[in-house]
Amino acid sequence: MSKVYTVAVVGGGIGRSHIVEGYETNKDRFKVLAICDLDATRRDNLADEFGIERRVENFDELLAMDDLDIIDVCTPPMLHFPMVIAALKAGKHVICEKPLVGSLSEVDAVMAEEKRSKGKLMPVFQYRFGNGIQQAKAIIDAGIAGKPYVGTVETLWRRGPDYYSVPWRGKWKSELGGVLMTHAIHPHDIFTYLMGDIKSLFGRVATRVNAIEVEDCISASVELQSGALGSFTATLGSADEISRIRLAFENVTIESDHEAYNPGKALWKILPRNDEAKARIEVLLANWQDVPSRFETQMRRFWDALEGLGPMPVTSTDSRRALEIVTAFYHSSETHEDVAFPLGPEHPRYNSWVPEGFR
Ligand SMILES: NC(=O)c1ccc[n+]([C@@H]2O[C@H](COP(=O)([O-])OP(=O)(O)OC[C@H]3O[C@@H](n4cnc5c(N)ncnc54)[C@H](O)[C@@H]3O)[C@@H](O)[C@H]2O)c1
Repeated sequence: MSKVYTVAVVGGGIGRSHIVEGYETNKDRFKVLAICDLDATRRDNLADEFGIERRVENFDELLAMDDLDIIDVCTPPMLHFPMVIAALKAGKHVICEKPLVGSLSEVDAVMAEEKRSKGKLMPVFQYRFGNGIQQAKAIIDAGIAGKPYVGTVETLWRRGPDYYSVPWRGKWKSELGGVLMTHAIHPHDIFTYLMGDIKSLFGRVATRVNAIEVEDCISASVELQSGALGSFTATLGSADEISRIRLAFENVTIESDHEAYNPGKALWKILPRNDEAKARIEVLLANWQDVPSRFETQMRRFWDALEGLGPMPVTSTDSRRALEIVTAFYHSSETHEDVAFPLGPEHPRYNSWVPEGFR
């Protein structure tokens, strides 16, 4: 019998997908004990639908529940930092939606708290999981792909007034950013996950699609620590919706599936550039074990990590890397400077990437 960890889901929007994809599929590992939401209808509907025992309005009540192992934070972005810190201080394990927090200084404070806490922290980057992306990762990690050359990332999605009718969205104070921070953060994470760390970034952001404070079009040119180059483009004004990551390495060119919200699931285009790479890929993938996509695998690997059976599938270091891109991007767009990584406390945007006047 495996250990079953008890979970409280806080926020029933994307939190519902955590339940459906992550916990219902892993019932031998997790039990959703509580649903916490300010919205009573949402709370009741979810509790009824999934047979959840406890309906909680006040987040602080969760901190005092001795039989609760994990707090899964799915609230709007500006609430992540205080909730994650409070949950870690209470000794709970924590899962937190993106963005983990709202600045590099906050992420550093979370990482310090994580070291002190007996709880473990896993930020959400569910797009990393699925057969397509995991096969690409295996080929790169096995050293078959060779030297990285160039990569492109396109996040071409669509959002309109309906989406922005939710009050916290579209505003710097509550959403903390637009397409860069909220949407393209997933494909950009995939890029660094597969291609490596960034050395410098030159980027531009613009608001052209919706009547909102934050940006909805972006573009950047990046140089990686390895010397490889990359380009990022994203908009919320695309007619159809695709996510496309295309990476050219010495021995193989890799292109993601284009399914906007689950690009990692279907098998990716893997194009070997020579017979040796082709043969090595065939051997590597011959006995491939299925990797279910998105939250199903992320939550399962979280359980493995809690049980000491594997590494944490997404870490606060991964979140820091993603938020460093966000910070550099906004800074570069405003100053027209090429921004060198890493970004530490000396950087003018270390305490907030939000433009002055909107904080
Ligand atoms: N990983 C992904 O693919 C993905 C997709 C969508 C959203 N998100 C992220 O998830 C977070 C939530 O987004 P959403 O679209 O689900 O938003 P949402 O507005 O649909 O849901 C948020 C819920 O949180 C509740 N809430 C707000 N304040 C609360 C509080 N103090 N205590 C308890 N509940 C509270 C609200 O009542 C609401 O039901 C955001 O950070 C967003 O960026 C991630």
